[in-house]
Amino acid sequence: MISILEVRQTIEPNSSREDIPRVEGHLKVTGQAKYTSDIVLPGMLYAVPVGSTVAAGRIASIDVSRSAAMAGVKAVYTRDTMGPLYRVPSAKGVMGHIEEVRPALEDDTIHYYGQYVALVVASTIEQATAAADVVHVTYEIDTFNVSPELEFSSVAKIRSLRGDPESSFASAPVQLDQVYGTPAQTHNPIELHATVAVWEGDAVTLYETSQGIVNHRLILAQTLGVSLERVRVISHFLGSGFGSKLFPWSHSALAADAARRLGTPVKLVLDRQTMFHCVGHRSQTKQRLRIGADREGKLLSLQHDFVSHGSMLDDYLEDCGRATPFLYDVANLMVRSDLARRNVGTPTTMRGPGAVPGVFAIESAMDEMAVRLNMDPVQLRLLNEPGIDQSRNVPFSSRHMRECLQIGAKQFGWEGRNSQVGSMQRDGLIIGWGMAACAWDALRFDAEATVELLADGTARVSTATQDIGTGTYTILAQIVTEMTGLSRDRIAVSLGDTILPPGPTSGGSRGTASLIPAVCEATRNAIKVVTEAAVSGASPFFPGSTAADLAFNGGNVLLKKHTSPIVIPYTEILKQARLFTASGHGRSDGIQGSGEREKYSIHSYGAHFCEVTWQPNTARLRVSRFLSVIDAGRVINPTPARNQIEGAVVMGVGMALFEETMYDSKYGAPLNSNLADYMLTTNADAPQIEVTFLDYPDTALNELGARGLGEIGAVGSAAAVTAAVYHATGVRIRKLPIRLEELLVANLED
Ligand code: MOS
Repeated sequence: MISILEVRQTIEPNSSREDIPRVEGHLKVTGQAKYTSDIVLPGMLYAVPVGSTVAAGRIASIDVSRSAAMAGVKAVYTRDTMGPLYRVPSAKGVMGHIEEVRPALEDDTIHYYGQYVALVVASTIEQATAAADVVHVTYEIDTFNVSPELEFSSVAKIRSLRGDPESSFASAPVQLDQVYGTPAQTHNPIELHATVAVWEGDAVTLYETSQGIVNHRLILAQTLGVSLERVRVISHFLGSGFGSKLFPWSHSALAADAARRLGTPVKLVLDRQTMFHCVGHRSQTKQRLRIGADREGKLLSLQHDFVSHGSMLDDYLEDCGRATPFLYDVANLMVRSDLARRNVGTPTTMRGPGAVPGVFAIESAMDEMAVRLNMDPVQLRLLNEPGIDQSRNVPFSSRHMRECLQIGAKQFGWEGRNSQVGSMQRDGLIIGWGMAACAWDALRFDAEATVELLADGTARVSTATQDIGTGTYTILAQIVTEMTGLSRDRIAVSLGDTILPPGPTSGGSRGTASLIPAVCEATRNAIKVVTEAAVSGASPFFPGSTAADLAFNGGNVLLKKHTSPIVIPYTEILKQARLFTASGHGRSDGIQGSGEREKYSIHSYGAHFCEVTWQPNTARLRVSRFLSVIDAGRVINPTPARNQIEGAVVMGVGMALFEETMYDSKYGAPLNSNLADYMLTTNADAPQIEVTFLDYPDTALNELGARGLGEIGAVGSAAAVTAAVYHATGVRIRKLPIRLEELLVANLED
């Protein structure tokens, strides 16, 4: 039996009540926190998958004889010797969701380079890796398509429509019609995807790198063909996921099935190259923006057409239009989408899915529009700030975009900007200043939580969600501290285990918003058990007082009205009542059953301001300064919140300057499938980042008024960079990432 992890703050930090460091921090810095690939079990074997070396075709033969004869090899599985692994119906949200629906080794058809064709299991990872290299596969090769040229087709789907966008554009005095592109990007969390599977009889425990253990359990039970009760999924700590670990991928079932067949634990850790093949990526996009405005800058028409690449088997679409319908006040609007299928692994959510490439295009177009109108880009946004969400004809729950723009401009010193291209200099460098607005959904998932006030004076909050590095352990400890008055070192938090009450997926920046109602209700219910015990039996409050007359504070029960000096530790009350624990349960409703929340358009908002420096002689471009003002409701804990925005801005800089997954036209493989060739923002590339949070609690979403804030920092930030690059160089980059030669060539032409 695997024990339940309890995370508890061990030192009382010297900081303000809210701005506390992570309660699991000491476990991480002392190496006690066990990540999935740290798990070592007696008798454990190592599995290494074999990937296809062609991008389309059919397996003609597999010869495993040489591999199977190698030292330490326990098994080499192919589709003839493994499975069946079952499919999961694709009704989203009902019985779990998986992006790549086809289980590994289902048939002989190859749909993309790197698709699993065999699995080697050996005593050590080195033996398994060596044996995987000599599995001999021959293919009947088909033609394949990994072309980066995306075309708009005639079968685009209308996703949002109001007014008459076409004729209002045609008659608009000022028109902009431009095409923008964003690259395929690969999530590169430092922690590789991993599964450790261990069976006890007919039940399996999976240690997983997962952003959603409850969903993972639902999927794996079906894939493996066992009942839900027989699957336990554990993910105590995550070395980030960025969306690639939101849904299960097929290696998890391979590890579990191998462990079942061999009767011993199996560990499977993907290598970095396989991370580029089989666990999702962000789709490449091409987007056409048509914006019509009057001469004063009022928007008359907005049309956003996009096409994103997808895989051959699944329908994942990068929804670039998700922020378009409510970002600006415009009577006439249309958003259309299209999918271009390629022989690539199935794409998936990557931080700020849809909105990140989509808002890059809109905000780039808005910046171009401002130039065309000879208008300040902040003013253009302020002028077109909507009063309601016109796409749904409902009010915004709490929208302070105007303040984000104004406060950001003030803090950045925007009034000192000379709009003339290349006109600003410092220390011999040309300076460019650009800005962009951003927005991200604020929604909830279903969640349950338990809070226990134990007779030993400690408390425990537990839910089967996971802390993916965002601070979930910490904020749950904070909420219970705030509501009970117990010190934080007396509060244990248990997460990351499906044996606990079902909690939300850590995705879409929804974890905190989903957990708050459940944890608050559970805490109130636990306190109620104490106060009811206090007025029953031999309680000193009895007679004459009811539970409703009592307050719970600092671990003590007292009368709300100070008519009596009696203060009793809750532990005394539990002891007298012979209770081990006062235990409360709470739940939040998610997307369905939203009822009251349906009456509002609920999002987080923000504005980014960026400075670049440009040295034309040496073609040296640096992002030197970044400032973001974020309206995300009430911020529960500023430090992890600021970490989230800083990390997301760093990803925005990476999207603007570096990141691009390139596919080889000859073999169809991702070419730069390693951390040397796939360029990411390093410390030396990261600018100074300042983050300001507005503080407008949004109680339409939950009682504490907290909205999601992880992903929004990645939305719009790349557009702020390219706007700054335009201001410095006069070159408008519409296709990311920025290539220095594009800036140089323009420079030579001058
Ligand atoms: Mo995020 S893309 O919801 O992990």
